[in-house]
Amino acid sequence: MSKHFLEVADFTSQEIKDVLYHAGELKKLYLNGGNDLCLDGRVMALIFEKPSSRTRISFETAMYQLGGDVIYLKREDIGALGEREPVKDLTRVLNGMVDVVVVRTFAHENLLEMTRHATIPIINALSDSTHPCQAMADIMTINEEVGSLEGLKIAFIGDGNNVATSLGIACVKMGANYVMAGPQGYIDKAIRLDLIEDKAQKHNCSFYITHDPREAAADADVIYTDTWTSMGCESQKEKRIKDFSGYQVNKELVALAKPNCKIMHCLPAYRGFEITDEVIESPNSIVFQQAENRLHVQREIVKYLMTGKM
Ligand code: CP
Ligand code: NVA
Repeated sequence: MSKHFLEVADFTSQEIKDVLYHAGELKKLYLNGGNDLCLDGRVMALIFEKPSSRTRISFETAMYQLGGDVIYLKREDIGALGEREPVKDLTRVLNGMVDVVVVRTFAHENLLEMTRHATIPIINALSDSTHPCQAMADIMTINEEVGSLEGLKIAFIGDGNNVATSLGIACVKMGANYVMAGPQGYIDKAIRLDLIEDKAQKHNCSFYITHDPREAAADADVIYTDTWTSMGCESQKEKRIKDFSGYQVNKELVALAKPNCKIMHCLPAYRGFEITDEVIESPNSIVFQQAENRLHVQREIVKYLMTGKM
């Protein structure tokens, strides 16, 4: 097993299935008032260079529910990663003081550098190019709401960003067909397209990108979207609103999908831009189930990485 969790691909397909199964079991336990205090006395450091609601709240709650404690450190506390001191020095300090580190950063390289020097697990809470904990919660939610991912058509419509990439890797590893639709110059610039393609071939499912949102939405089992302007891209916001204007998830687009097509969004959502209020509030929207599953799946990931047991 991998000591760290930086990408969905760090887990084998079997490990992903096992994590989802045990996350579901822990979910039932906690929802019934039970607990599993396997991390009693252990401490998690959360290093967040970007804002967060869901990720911070879910990791902190997960750690408390497992009997542990947390220290939340934002940029104002320890400086930007690599600026006040080298990332490798900070990592070696953390090795001696805490038991696990959860990191939200800009450059993915910061996470890689930490894993080169860490003796404790490092968990990726989002980088410019990846958001694997989100993807794990997403596939857990699809499993719960739709059933097995195998053979489903999952359409991501919008920017070829961190969420789209990690979701793609997770979906094809579970045997789902994945399509990403977005404007030229954005969707085609998504990173790790080769990795998604490679995993899709290994798992006998399809992956392609298109500039036609209608083609992506046609007969989809799931339509997923995310902000057009990710954290760090704010200076391009006005241009992006123009460039993405044909890619809104609205009722006309959803009408092309399967009648029971589920609507997903990692949140925060910008209503009237990437998704309409009507669609996000519609009966087929499962965005808050997704958000809740961040807690349930991350509790299992933390437990697994820290104890080696599911
Ligand atoms: N979806 C997600 O990661 O939300 P936050 O940025 O609020 O953590
Ligand atoms: N793509 C978004 C996800 C936020 C959870 C961003 O990086 O800002």
